[in-house]
Amino acid sequence: MEKPFVYITRKLPEELLEPLKQVATIEMWPHDDQPIPYDKLKEKAKKASGLLTMLSDQIDASLLEASPHLKVVANMAVGYDNIDVAAAKKNDITVCNTPDVLTNSTAELTFALMLATARRICEAEQYVKEGKWINWSPFLLAGQDLFRKKLGIVGMGRIGQAVAKRAKGFDMDIYYHNRSRNEHAEAEYGATYLSFHDLISSCDYIICLTPLTSETVKLFNATVFKEMKDTAIFINVSRGAVVDEAALYEALVNKEIAGAGLDVFEKEPIQTTHPLLSLKNVVALPHIGSASVATRWKMGELAVENILAVLQGSKGKTIVE
Ligand code: DGY
Repeated sequence: MEKPFVYITRKLPEELLEPLKQVATIEMWPHDDQPIPYDKLKEKAKKASGLLTMLSDQIDASLLEASPHLKVVANMAVGYDNIDVAAAKKNDITVCNTPDVLTNSTAELTFALMLATARRICEAEQYVKEGKWINWSPFLLAGQDLFRKKLGIVGMGRIGQAVAKRAKGFDMDIYYHNRSRNEHAEAEYGATYLSFHDLISSCDYIICLTPLTSETVKLFNATVFKEMKDTAIFINVSRGAVVDEAALYEALVNKEIAGAGLDVFEKEPIQTTHPLLSLKNVVALPHIGSASVATRWKMGELAVENILAVLQGSKGKTIVE
């Protein structure tokens, strides 16, 4: 019997793909730093039974409907807003993601970004490297503390809870907003539930961890930034489109908020000419939430396991329902 064909949209280590090679013919986009163009991916998908995809690949209804053999799309990310899940369901295609394995790494990055923004770490590093450090001075690059400040987490899922766990160790007061109450986070980390309005207007640090859906597009807009404290620091490690970037820029320039730490952007990669990148009080990262070597390896393994499971006739390990 002919082996099923699996297409992998980014160059991954061969060792990671060994289990898949036993049961499938695999082909891989040869670059790790540039995505496969949409039209090329659509061509590959036409003959594929499985796709191993990245968050930067657009897997829309048109592609799914034009892929008669496709059984599984395994996204190497916990987020899956790049995939039309409804269209996949309609076409009997299983969609899988990589939850859990990236929770701690992403929470660590969230914390690193919050600390870097609050304590002006990137500005300070540039200051030293550019030879500007001539004298010590009392308020040189003075920032904000985390301890005993109010942390507001918007989206109390797995990563939100892992952030809350760390915030407890930093002696922060933890608040959250979520679609539903999270009793575990309340009992374990002392997190207090607030309405979205109360959270954004009262917290010192606001971390966006909510997934991108039709309801959360531009959730953080001009009105919301105006409601925040002028000392508030906004952190986004979810998806760029949850934020109105023009409104965020205005809020920062007009000193409606104090700073922003951003790992994600509406259009990635962000252009160096983007106004947000001209601001000193913005720390910008290239979407590296889960980017530790060990975690990226586990995400790759889980994506492979998901494809194998579906091709071998069982359920995927981590299916998007
Ligand atoms: C994901 O996996 O969705 C995260 O954005 C990775 O950083």
